[in-house]
Amino acid sequence: MSDRLPPEAITAQVLARFGSTPDPRLREIMSALVAHLHAFVTEVGLTEEEWATGIATLTTTGEITDEKRQEFILWSDTLGVSMLVDAIAHRAPSGATESTVLGPFYVPDSPLREYGADLAEQEAGTPAWVHGRVLDLEGAPIAGAELDVWQNGDNRLYAVQDADAPDDHLRGRFETDAEGRFAFRAVRPVPYPIPDDGPVGRMLNATGRHPWRPAHIHIVVRAPGFKSVTTHIFDAESEYLDDDTVFAVKPSLLRRFEERAADDPKRPEGVEEEWVSLELDLVLAPGDAGEVTDLGRTH
Ligand code: BEZ
Ligand code: FE
Repeated sequence: MSDRLPPEAITAQVLARFGSTPDPRLREIMSALVAHLHAFVTEVGLTEEEWATGIATLTTTGEITDEKRQEFILWSDTLGVSMLVDAIAHRAPSGATESTVLGPFYVPDSPLREYGADLAEQEAGTPAWVHGRVLDLEGAPIAGAELDVWQNGDNRLYAVQDADAPDDHLRGRFETDAEGRFAFRAVRPVPYPIPDDGPVGRMLNATGRHPWRPAHIHIVVRAPGFKSVTTHIFDAESEYLDDDTVFAVKPSLLRRFEERAADDPKRPEGVEEEWVSLELDLVLAPGDAGEVTDLGRTH
């Protein structure tokens, strides 16, 4: 009889070693991690060369990650893990505005701007008048809610990526008035590729995937007594809605920008060219307002 251990015996040994982890949740997570990781290695018959390539990829991911570049979250986003965690956290439809990924271009402490103010601090594309209300699940207005908004311009870049843009370009916070209303001048967002000059980009390229995201505006909505929501509003006419590289599109978040003529009497102050408008109601569920967990950027 052979005295060699079969692969399954190694898995059983490792699982047994974690069996005495004192914290039950950590025990559950480590046991499932080992079970699935070993099943994966066994299923694909991972070779020694492939194992080394995996280690080199993780090493490069660590080396490229710093306070300006978070390549680990980009892996999570492009492997659909970020959206899976989001879906598990928000399983039951509550009637509230749905959440989606935060993304790496969020910068805390955006300037507080007046009702109707312009997000753009320099020329950035087709003007967009975005207005609406923040409501509770019964349709009652929420006064004093905060919208934290950021987006890209027609050069595809967010201000944090753009050395030529002022720091507060295309970002700002707005408060709802007594009727729960908000309004701001934005620009029509455009599709853009996620940063693809690192290991994640090489994975996308090697697997025949593209790095593009459909056009969207990011909004975090917070109000005391309500659950905060981190979301996007997608341009319903954008390319890449069906194959967002980070799987973050939810049908309920699509909106049509209405095209408006330059001489439309309702045009916002200062607009002299063609523009678009977007009416948007945002709905919050009751609960504790949470802060954004800002884990870093990927410029
Ligand atoms: C974003 O929408 O800003 C984003 C989200 C995930 C990865 C990269 C970018
Ligand atoms: Fe984005």
